[in-house]
Amino acid sequence: MPASSSKIRSVLIGTGAYLPQRILTNRELAASLDSSDEWIRQRTGISQRHVSSDSETTTDLATRAAKQAMVNAGIRDPSQIDLVIVATTTPTDVFPATATMVQHFIGASGFAFDLQAVCSGFVYALSVADSLLQSGSAKTALVIGAENFTRLLDWTDRGTCVLFGDGAGAVIVRAEAGKGDQSDRGILTSFLHSDGSLRDILYTDGSPGARVKMEGKEVFRHATEKMAAVAEEALDSLGLQGSDLDWLVPHQANLRIIEAMAKKLNLPLSKVIVTVDKHANTSAASIPLALHAGFSDGRLKPGQLIMVEALGGGLTWGSAIIRL
Ligand code: ACO
Repeated sequence: MPASSSKIRSVLIGTGAYLPQRILTNRELAASLDSSDEWIRQRTGISQRHVSSDSETTTDLATRAAKQAMVNAGIRDPSQIDLVIVATTTPTDVFPATATMVQHFIGASGFAFDLQAVCSGFVYALSVADSLLQSGSAKTALVIGAENFTRLLDWTDRGTCVLFGDGAGAVIVRAEAGKGDQSDRGILTSFLHSDGSLRDILYTDGSPGARVKMEGKEVFRHATEKMAAVAEEALDSLGLQGSDLDWLVPHQANLRIIEAMAKKLNLPLSKVIVTVDKHANTSAASIPLALHAGFSDGRLKPGQLIMVEALGGGLTWGSAIIRL
């Protein structure tokens, strides 16, 4: 497409977040495990995580984040939202989708569905929302990452249970006419990938009460390699370099993975939004939670160029470059 032709852009107009009240510190967790606060912080950068109460459903988390995003986007008439996507690995029910419940609770119109790409879920959902906005199927999309991920944990497996937390983040994107060049606000490009042959290094099977199984070192290796490649792919498609980005807002799995990504993109850690210390890995919720944190404390501002990127079970991975 010629650089000057007009194009529909999906512009971020508001974010919201919800974290369960209960905070579980490393110290509390390590008390019942053969682990320590020091080990967890050194290997992962995580100090604490939020954990939902038994009565808090993924729908509850998602709905709270959605309502805050609507306030921040200045949306008073909820029927303006005509698409709801909830990226989740831990839906409230097998069916219906958590997204249709959220649609009902906030009074949105249009259509709603869940999307399952584990830790890459939010990047996938944002990309799908962008396509639906560009095709004219919807005008204003609510894209949520929401997880009660701790319900999938084996609290006796120190190799996995220290890594994850619960929470929800939401963004609202609205179709706006752009010029078709990089000065436009909105999602400028996105790339998605998956490879089911790597299923066995990170999965929870379908049996009742099944828990997360992970080969941590293998996941770590694929995460650094594949996220670097998909980040390059997005930058190359726009003729940009990592140093052109104002911010990297990565999936929050492990501070060492985040540091490796920043290094590959030639970005100092001061240009990376980091929440893994406080939230741990909230799977599909981690990027929208980080976006909300960045907007709330004033680091993220309209006009800035950011990249989001993630890798998760599947394996799935992806990236997007967005002008705020
Ligand atoms: N406390 C203390 N010791 C531990 C713990 C713990 N919580 N967990 C593992 N260990 C031990 C291991 O048993 C091992 O002991 P051994 O040498 O006696 O066998 C030792 O620590 C070293 O274990 P490694 O697995 O080699 O440690 P590593 O440095 O690889 O760190 C970790 C493990 C943190 C899981 C790391 O591999 C990792 O973060 N991988 C990425 C996993 C991830 O992020 N998954 C999330 C989903 S995918 C995503 O979001 C990108």
